[in-house]
Amino acid sequence: MVDLDKIISLCKRRGFIFQGSEQYGGLQGTWDYGPLGVELKNNVKRAWWRRVVYERDDMEGLDCAILMNRLVLKYSGHEETFSDPMVDCRKCKKRFRADQVDPNEKCPEGDKHDLTEPRPFNLMFKTTVGPVADESNISYLRPETAQGIFINFKNVLDSTNRKVPFGIAQIGKSYRNEITPRNFIFRVREFEQMEIEFFVEPGSDDEWHNKWVEDRYNWYVELGIRPENLKKYEQKKEELAHYAKATVDLLYRFFPDREDENKQYDEVEGIANRTDFDLTCHTKGGKLVLGDGREIPNTHAINKLTYFDPKSNKHYLPYVIEPSAGVDRATLAFLMDAYHEEQVNDDTRVVLRLHPELAPIKVAVLPLKKNNENIRNTAIKIKNELMKKSGWRTVYDDTAGIGKLYRRQDEIGTPFCITVDFDTLENNTVTVRDRDSMQQERVNIDELQQYLSERLGNC
Ligand code: GAP
Repeated sequence: MVDLDKIISLCKRRGFIFQGSEQYGGLQGTWDYGPLGVELKNNVKRAWWRRVVYERDDMEGLDCAILMNRLVLKYSGHEETFSDPMVDCRKCKKRFRADQVDPNEKCPEGDKHDLTEPRPFNLMFKTTVGPVADESNISYLRPETAQGIFINFKNVLDSTNRKVPFGIAQIGKSYRNEITPRNFIFRVREFEQMEIEFFVEPGSDDEWHNKWVEDRYNWYVELGIRPENLKKYEQKKEELAHYAKATVDLLYRFFPDREDENKQYDEVEGIANRTDFDLTCHTKGGKLVLGDGREIPNTHAINKLTYFDPKSNKHYLPYVIEPSAGVDRATLAFLMDAYHEEQVNDDTRVVLRLHPELAPIKVAVLPLKKNNENIRNTAIKIKNELMKKSGWRTVYDDTAGIGKLYRRQDEIGTPFCITVDFDTLENNTVTVRDRDSMQQERVNIDELQQYLSERLGNC
């Protein structure tokens, strides 16, 4: 299986992902998605949205502001507890996340690090809103998209007439001032999440939790992740967040070169049963219950976030099942799983076997001879017509010989290449080449759209 270094190099070379602010030496923990990366990431988000919103009858979408009233993050518990343990080395003055530094590691100032006791470091990015930068105007960039969903529970309920069970999905940026961002786009300071809060009647929560774990696992596999690279991990009681009744993490094999097999896998998504913790925090007259037992009564919230159940004629606070995925981590997993190197004659072919739905470019139209005007014009016409009729990202390329053009498209995962040649001008047919099998078929131009639709599916 490919390691991270090869993926990083491919991403830079072919324009998937670049270091953020590279022109000025970079900004740690930030990455910019290039021409192919933005297509791939958008396709991941679109595939998720279609699966969890459009293909179900019990979901709504939402898109909330990133800047939030400070009170949201006070009553959610983030101000008080959203921190990682941090240590400093007294010798080299570097800071580390306590669980990510080996105290026996060599210090650049000689011998081992001399580490302080761990202390909490809050991961939220603080800013001020408005022209006066003082304490009363503090706000945060949201550290997760989830809170926007909880505080809009009543708005969505009232405006859609939904009945529990139903869920709300959101995709968007989140920000965490990670102490040690690392491993490419795996742990960064600015990232995107795809989160669902699914509201259920207490008592039905275990069943819904199991259903969501299965559904989310299947989504990755159906989009091409090999099952041997994706594990379900049920958190042990002592690992659970204090508000969670159960959590199953989906772990992808991001680090295949690590010796210890258990350390090869890390979280791409978590599916938690959060009980009624969040709605209790944010409801009028509710309270935040911290891990140490302290209670902070909510004296600011405007609305009750209870649900009126017409069957039982009772109001209650629904339980929440939360499937929470990282867009960047999912994108990385799809890239890693798709990467293959294979011997073709005396050559190594790099091919990204991305699911057609995720492939940044669906079809490339290539002229066999770029200096033949008829061939070139026919190829450009085919490209424009396919694009217009289907909406697929279709490109025209004549910047190299046909062999090289095929390899370029293989390396970026384009499922089909269409070659226009002299026969095209005679009999209105083109060659369609399949990325994975490299098989070529002659197809009439009038049937191209249909031929490709059958093979590209939901793109
Ligand atoms: N609302 C629950 C929540 O945010 P989380 O486990 O902290 O849970 C959910 O985050 C997902 O977001 C993770 O599984 C991961 O894919 C992604 N994620 C979290 N922190 C990240 C970071 N610093 N860089 C990239 N992705 C991150």
